[in-house]
Amino acid sequence: MRVDVFTLFPEWFEWFLGQRHVANALAQGHEIGFVNPREHTPLPAGQVDDTPFGGGAGMVLRVDVMEAALRARYGGDPVQLRADRRVIALAPGGRLLDDALADELAGEPEIALLCGRYEGFDERVIEYYASDVVSIGRYVLAGGELPAMVLCDAVLRKLPGALGHAESALEESFSPALEGGPEYPHYTRPAEFRGWRVPEILLSGHHERIRRWRLEHSRERGRG
Ligand code: ADE
Repeated sequence: MRVDVFTLFPEWFEWFLGQRHVANALAQGHEIGFVNPREHTPLPAGQVDDTPFGGGAGMVLRVDVMEAALRARYGGDPVQLRADRRVIALAPGGRLLDDALADELAGEPEIALLCGRYEGFDERVIEYYASDVVSIGRYVLAGGELPAMVLCDAVLRKLPGALGHAESALEESFSPALEGGPEYPHYTRPAEFRGWRVPEILLSGHHERIRRWRLEHSRERGRG
């Protein structure tokens, strides 16, 4: 899979790229590239944003600047891009990211992530270039960079080989194996600490009973 991130702050992703599961995914041949719209702006002095028409606070990322960045990366008319790949604008009001969307995106050969800053994008960026608008929650962050990392994290760990054990992603929270519910509780050694005992069944070695116990607890957490 190839992910292209359009961001004014590519250096913020250095830490993210160093995380083990991300590094694993890259070692397996998956790719993450960055395009900084400031490097492609047709405007003087590296300008990328402007004040909103109609007044109001904040700055808006310009449509001509985003077009130049998309052209620099892909060539051709960026209006055509979304016919071939998901072009995802990150914005607080978009489709909420969940496990099903992460699964869907993990099946794509290529995605582009557009990170807004300040008050976001000129609406024409969304209207004419984006195939999707995705939100990581109903709150406003200073920009789309953290949401892009959250989305990449959720998607990359779905790719085979990104996690240490092939099974780790299968029985995870919200996976079909857990009927879409949250994950069951985990325990490790010591089996008793300050009198707090690990549920006996997990020490029993009865795999089928353990499986049922976990599913039950996942369901119970889902109801809570
Ligand atoms: N940009 C700013 N806030 C955001 C959010 N909650 N989700 C996605 N992109 C954003």
